[in-house]
Amino acid sequence: MALVSVKDMLEKALKGKYAVGQFNINNLEWTKAILSTAEELKSPVILGVSEGAAKYMTGFRTVTNMVKAMIEEMHITVPVALHLDHGTYEGCYKCIEAGFSSIMFDGSHFPIEENIAKTKELVAVCKKKGMSLEAEVGSIGGEEDGVVGQGECADPDECKKIADLGVTILAAGIGNIHGKYPSNWTGLRFDVLEKIKAKTGDMPLVLHGGTGIPTDMIKKAISLGVAKINVNTECQLAFQEATRKYVEEGKDLVGKGFDPRKLLAPGVEAIKATVREKMQIFGSIGKA
Ligand code: 13P
Repeated sequence: MALVSVKDMLEKALKGKYAVGQFNINNLEWTKAILSTAEELKSPVILGVSEGAAKYMTGFRTVTNMVKAMIEEMHITVPVALHLDHGTYEGCYKCIEAGFSSIMFDGSHFPIEENIAKTKELVAVCKKKGMSLEAEVGSIGGEEDGVVGQGECADPDECKKIADLGVTILAAGIGNIHGKYPSNWTGLRFDVLEKIKAKTGDMPLVLHGGTGIPTDMIKKAISLGVAKINVNTECQLAFQEATRKYVEEGKDLVGKGFDPRKLLAPGVEAIKATVREKMQIFGSIGKA
C-alpha cells in the first residue's frame, strides 16, 4: 500500500472514538518494529520523523525510500502515513519534496500572525499534493536546562484561528509535555481541551507527549476529540532497558551475541511490545 495522508484515518478515528498512534522512528529497526506490529494488529499507523532523526538517517529522502521499500518488502497492507514531527518552515518544504505524506508545521514559537501566514501558505501546498498538515498552537514543552515545566495551554481562540485555515489536524497544548512527566505534574487540562474542541468542531486533535500519560487520561482525551497521540520517549526507554539487560547479562559475549542482529533484537521486541500496548489503549487495533 502506498503512503497515505492522515486525513481519512483520523476522521475515521474521531468518529469511531479511538486514536491512531504516531510512533517516532530513528532507524531501520524502529521502523521495522512499528510496521510489523501495526500489520499484525491490523491498525493504521503514523510514522513520526523529527528533523533530528531525519538528519541522523542521512536525510528525508533516505527515510522516504526506506519506508516505501519496507512497506513493499514486508507486504504491509494497513494505512501508513509518513509524517514530519515538529517541522520548521524549511523542513516542511524538504519533506514535501522528499515524498512524505504528511507534515507538521510547528509555528508555535512565531507570533500568532506569522504562524497564521506560514500555516496558510503550507495548507495550500499540501492540498495540491494530497498531503495532510498538522499545525500547533501553544508550545508543547519538555525539559529545558534540567527544569521540566507543567506544559503550556493553548488559547482556544488562537486554535480556532489556525483550524479555520484548513489544516487537517491540530496539536494544542493542554498541559502535556514531551519526555518523562515530573512527579509533581498536575495532569492534562481537560477544561482547556473541552474549550478547544468547542471552538474547533470536527477537527481531529493531536495529543503530543504520549509517554507516561495515565491510561484513564488518554481515554478521556480520546472521548473529548483527540484522534492522534504521539509516542516517542517510551519506545526509546523500552529499547534502552532491553538492550541494557542483554549486555548486563553478558549475552553479547556468548557465541555470536555480538552480531548486531542479535544485539538489537531484544530492543526491537521491546519496541513492539510498547507499540502493541499503546495501540490497545488507543483502541486502534483492527481498525485498518
Ligand atoms: P514523548 O517523547 O513524550 O512520547 O512525545 C512524543 C511527541 O509528542 C513527538 O512529537
